[in-house]
Amino acid sequence: MTTCTERPEVAHRTIEDLDRAARRVLATNWRQHATVPAARLYPHQWSWDSAFVAIGLRHLSPARAQRELESLFGAQWRDGRVPHIVFDPHVPADAYFPGPSFWRSGAVPEAPAVPTSGIVQPPAHALAVWLTYRADPATARARGFLSRLYPRLVEWHRYLMTRRDLTGSGLMSVVHPWESGLDNSPAWDTPLSRVTPVPAGEFTRRDLDHAAAADRPTDTDYGRYVRLARDYRDAGYADSLRVHGFAVEDPLCNALLAAGEDALASMAVELGRDPRPHRSAAARLTGTLTATLYDPAAGMFFARDAHTGKLIRSYSVGGLVPLVVPGLPVAAELIRTALGDRFRLRDACPLPSYDLTAGDHDPGRYWRGPGWINTSWLFWHGLRLHGEPSLAEDLRQRLLDRVRDAGFREYLDPLTGAGHGTDGFSWTAALILDLIRAP
Ligand code: SER
Repeated sequence: MTTCTERPEVAHRTIEDLDRAARRVLATNWRQHATVPAARLYPHQWSWDSAFVAIGLRHLSPARAQRELESLFGAQWRDGRVPHIVFDPHVPADAYFPGPSFWRSGAVPEAPAVPTSGIVQPPAHALAVWLTYRADPATARARGFLSRLYPRLVEWHRYLMTRRDLTGSGLMSVVHPWESGLDNSPAWDTPLSRVTPVPAGEFTRRDLDHAAAADRPTDTDYGRYVRLARDYRDAGYADSLRVHGFAVEDPLCNALLAAGEDALASMAVELGRDPRPHRSAAARLTGTLTATLYDPAAGMFFARDAHTGKLIRSYSVGGLVPLVVPGLPVAAELIRTALGDRFRLRDACPLPSYDLTAGDHDPGRYWRGPGWINTSWLFWHGLRLHGEPSLAEDLRQRLLDRVRDAGFREYLDPLTGAGHGTDGFSWTAALILDLIRAP
């Protein structure tokens, strides 16, 4: 079935209308302790979604934003990993695929009691925790928010910097396209081509019940996603290059890790602990990221295939996200690339997930072309960090206009603004609330 059952609401006329409607989305998607990304398409708690949701929720209810992050970290594994999905046991087993019976976290000694997936998502959490804390330090202190989350974030980053440094380069690897956040990005086509897909008849996709097939990854991609997840599960979620048919060092995750270590340094100061280990980790990650994944001739960061050691020269929005790293030495060059024909920062909006000039750019299919609010928000944050207030303000205004016209869609055609994917999408609503309130 390919009907889209989560249709857009009417266009919102004023900023006040938009604000009210965004609050409604977050109220509808709240489930006692956390927010689902979208009521039908994604009916559980997702890891990096919760980080973006907290960034918006902190303006409405700091305590609720804190709970959002606390509940995610409540499902952290004993080895430090934060799973990409925390399953809600009250949601019917067949509402989402792959569900708890696929991942079988209950059979893993390191996993928590609540069922989870076994892969991770980009580490946007330290930044989210720090922004959430700063929104209301008094409430956070009264609830012990930072003192409880800080050690968990340290363990999370330690997992990524040690167990996930699969090549010994000093960078973390993602071992599944879903871990990159940019699931079906063309950047993954080459490394994924070595993975034999599980035949489509051997599993039942649920995503196509709630979104148009043309907006979603293909069955062949899904077959490969299932193969990789199954192999990882069957290896007991062990982390070694041998286990993973797909492994890449990607700029988005490593940049968020570096920015996250910087945020951890600020938290350490606040808690009276030593910030120096975080400052040196941030500096080391920034240096390695730039030395290894930045191509000066292209003015762009590219992912590196951990199996071949080669850069994947595909212009994905993930290669612009390192702008979130404080003190990034190549910020000006990266902004120049964003202003060029491939991303058209001044008029394409949201920032395209993939090169507008590429022959296989697809403006409606997930991470193969459409613009997403979260990566645009990260770039906006980076523009402010690197002294570009007028470019940042221009991007902010255009993001607000786009969502005012299209509603809280999952992703948008960056040139026409047409909405795609599900509607009532939580991080679109949350980040719009944050953009509305930007100082
Ligand atoms: N983004 C993936 C999905 O579409 C998994 O996290 O379900």
